[in-house]
Amino acid sequence: MGYLKNYPNKEGYFGEFGGAFLPPELESQFAEINKAYLTLGRSADFLNELRYIRKHYQGRPTPVYYAHNLSREVGAHIYLKREDLNHSGAHKLNHCMAEALLAKHMGKAKLIAETGAGQHGVALATAAAYFGMECEIHMGEIDIAKESPNVTRMKLLGAEVVPVGFGGRSLKEAVDSAFQSYLGQADTALFAIGSVVGPHPFPLMVRDFQSVVGFEAKEQFLEMVGELPDQIGACIGGGSNAMGLFSAFIDDEGVCLNGVEPLGKGTKLGEHSATMTFGKPGMIHGFKCLLLTDDEGNPAPVHSIASGLDYPGVGPEHSFLKTEGKVNYHAVSDDETLAAFYKLSRLEGIIPALESAHAVAWAMQHGRENPGQTILINLSGRGDKDIDYVTENFGFGVKG
Ligand SMILES: Cc1ncc(COP(=O)(O)O)c(C=O)c1O
Repeated sequence: MGYLKNYPNKEGYFGEFGGAFLPPELESQFAEINKAYLTLGRSADFLNELRYIRKHYQGRPTPVYYAHNLSREVGAHIYLKREDLNHSGAHKLNHCMAEALLAKHMGKAKLIAETGAGQHGVALATAAAYFGMECEIHMGEIDIAKESPNVTRMKLLGAEVVPVGFGGRSLKEAVDSAFQSYLGQADTALFAIGSVVGPHPFPLMVRDFQSVVGFEAKEQFLEMVGELPDQIGACIGGGSNAMGLFSAFIDDEGVCLNGVEPLGKGTKLGEHSATMTFGKPGMIHGFKCLLLTDDEGNPAPVHSIASGLDYPGVGPEHSFLKTEGKVNYHAVSDDETLAAFYKLSRLEGIIPALESAHAVAWAMQHGRENPGQTILINLSGRGDKDIDYVTENFGFGVKG
């Protein structure tokens, strides 16, 4: 019992993973963020304001929905926690509003971040508009081309979008670029990291801010079904929507926790982003985690059809939970993801984000193999951002 209270330790370690490996000029800034989170961030005033925002601005609680048609087809009972209905279309706003609120309390005027699929960027630009702050979002050129509706949204919301054109021109490079920019303006800005990654205290803070997903879902599921689910599952990029869901169930012995990562096009290095399956302990962006590396030990090039899952590292807490055997991690291919994307759209009238479609694909596989089980999935985001990319490259899917 009491997992959340025990992890991470004071230095931000989950077992051997986590920590804060920072350039000297950022050490005092991160110490200040940590102090602000542990004091201001847990104060009654802060939590009341956050509760108000979640209810009146974000539209929380988001529902849990019994996917009746999908369940009938698969032979198991699949429930969806509808984070796609959270304002701005994904779970990301849960931590963005809280990070921005913390930044406001700390007297910062600007928010800086990286984005992959653009959902964290849109959510942060939304938070910046709400609080009247400046916003600078770094995004790889490949993702800019793939997720153009989100680029337009960020600009409309008043954010500056900085294209990142070096290396793999994707999420890892966007983080590198955002960190570099933050270095020059750390006194006046907050680097609002977009997942349970980065140096301490971000993996802790983002998990706590996302835990609203799990605690709501648990109450809603109990009310609907009368008992806890057999299985819960979520996709894993850095791992924030998964940790949000897992937080509320992690001490429940009878509930199996499942993380779903991208197997992409295959098992060769460069074809996937399956860090939990193929990664080894390493260091990226100021923290220790499981990591995909090339022959020289550098972060490897990665691929996923979902830009938000396209990262060679993963949150330190997931790395720990894997080595402890507390969570089962599965890898799902691009093709299986696309099939789930079309299926959920056709059967339930819900177009999922490609990231979230990974979790749906796993639920369908697991449900077919385990008829009658109850499976609760975090539907982390909606797929509007993906429709141009999917239809231009893969068409409209097979009917039925
Ligand atoms: C809809 C959606 N789900 C999931 C993710 C992956 O992030 P995380 O693993 O931190 O939840 C992203 C990232 O962009 C996303 O946009």
